[in-house]
Amino acid sequence: MTASSTLYVCTTCRGADPAAADQPRAGARLLAALEGADVTVVGVECLSNCTRSCSAAVAAPGKWTYVIGNLDPERHAADLLAFARQHGAHETGLPVWRERPEYIRKNTIARVPPMPIKELS
Ligand code: FES
Repeated sequence: MTASSTLYVCTTCRGADPAAADQPRAGARLLAALEGADVTVVGVECLSNCTRSCSAAVAAPGKWTYVIGNLDPERHAADLLAFARQHGAHETGLPVWRERPEYIRKNTIARVPPMPIKELS
């Protein structure tokens, strides 16, 4: 059984087209668009990818971590969710590249190797 994945969404991202001061930020709208998803979704403040926002990360214990950028809350929630599901289904978090949603393939900013999982004695 593989570890389930968590989708971290930056809620402070302003996105490519910043909202008016009295409107929710693009990152907060992306988080709202993912409400009710069948993947664990957690809001965070800043993934250090501000110039290519909106930003999200997909991670799980013992798996590769991905940072994804240039996300539009009105257009890319479904792609992000599909990728998080693929990540969750793969033992080490390396879903087949050509099977990943195209927008995710083209806007993956970084991937980080898994941390070693300590054996409990
Ligand atoms: S504010 Fe979203 S990555 Fe920095």
